[in-house]
Amino acid sequence: MALSLEKLLDSRRVILVVGSGGVGKTTTTAALGLAAAARGKRVLCLTIDPARRLANSLGLKAMTTEAQTVDPQRFRDAGLPVRGTLTVMMLDTKSTFDELVHRYASSPQARDRILHNRLYQYVSTSLAGTHEYMAMEKLHAVKTDGAFDLILLDTPPTANALDFLDAPQRLVDALDSAAMRWFIEAFQESGKLSFNILAKSAAVVLKGIGKLTGGDFLEQVAQFVTELNDLFGGFKERAQEVARTLRAPDVAYVLVTSPSPMAIQEVLFFSERLEEQGMPRDAFVVNRLHQASALQAGADAAREALRSLPLSLDDDAAERLVSALDDERRQAQLDRLRLRRLDEALARSSSPPLRVDVPALPYDVHDVRTLAEVARVLAP
Ligand SMILES: Nc1ncnc2c1ncn2[C@@H]1O[C@H](COP(=O)(O)OP(=O)(O)OP(=O)(O)O)[C@@H](O)[C@H]1O
Ligand SMILES: [Mg+2]
Repeated sequence: MALSLEKLLDSRRVILVVGSGGVGKTTTTAALGLAAAARGKRVLCLTIDPARRLANSLGLKAMTTEAQTVDPQRFRDAGLPVRGTLTVMMLDTKSTFDELVHRYASSPQARDRILHNRLYQYVSTSLAGTHEYMAMEKLHAVKTDGAFDLILLDTPPTANALDFLDAPQRLVDALDSAAMRWFIEAFQESGKLSFNILAKSAAVVLKGIGKLTGGDFLEQVAQFVTELNDLFGGFKERAQEVARTLRAPDVAYVLVTSPSPMAIQEVLFFSERLEEQGMPRDAFVVNRLHQASALQAGADAAREALRSLPLSLDDDAAERLVSALDDERRQAQLDRLRLRRLDEALARSSSPPLRVDVPALPYDVHDVRTLAEVARVLAP
């Protein structure tokens, strides 16, 4: 059953790693990155969360919004031949939005006016959907820039993990919305926004901003809307490009789950949503799987060994050891039962995706050596 993701690493430019909270997305992303780097690729891992321990295990003080390339000595110390490079970077909504403004503003003056507008500062960090959109925007930007052969994205662990898929469309819709158009027209006709209209819309936004008041606020809104209008064309085109990127044939979707019923249910939900949207589901990674075969052999060997030991040994300890191994074996059986639901769903699919199983290791995965262990399972 267990196959390898090697082919995806060799044939794709972008791999999006999706799954519910805590199943091992960050670990899978990093392990795939390491596997690809070992194959000679220049790899970029983009993460949403600070993944501090992962950063530390790669010899970095912290994950930052600046790209950081892992020191090759780290790999040599772990006895790993890595021909390529592994770079990690944390996504930053605000700076990505700023880059967009830099790109599409009609003049340096217009750019600075937007960047310094307080409403912009609110919109660029707090508006719903901005985070998802900017993650996709960044992905698109690094993909086109060509400095990396493979980009891996560790998606956020929320129930709405797939919101990023329609984020570009939602942005286009928002920019195209009747309210927005009307707002702009109202301003352009008179060259000045009607104070009443503005005050009404302002009241809603004001609640979220709190600090801005009266005339200052209105001035900022008027300025913001005018300036932003300047960017709309560019923004919209860009959002459509980003949407196309997500559906490009060189993008792979890897869905991660654990054997827990909740995680399986969620991964199947993600899988259906991907299918609805015409996105591929290239592979499923079942992480932290208890594996009966290896354990069974272990338990049998332990029993044998215990039998041959002198009776003076603490009988209790021996019993506990055997019972722990039996527990593991039962856990493995339980995992297998739970995964039936996933297998059945995959079997129904017209082009069944790969399924790769990663064993539950008896320790956390947070250094190059253990990461390499996972990498070897994913892509031997
Ligand atoms: N196969 C494994 N065996 C043992 N421990 C593992 C395995 N995979 C992941 N872990 C550990 O499980 C924890 C969660 O993994 P990870 O951070 O990759 O999950 P995540 O899906 O990114 O979580 P979040 O949704 O919170 O971002 C980590 O401590 C990691 O070291
Ligand atoms: Mg994570």
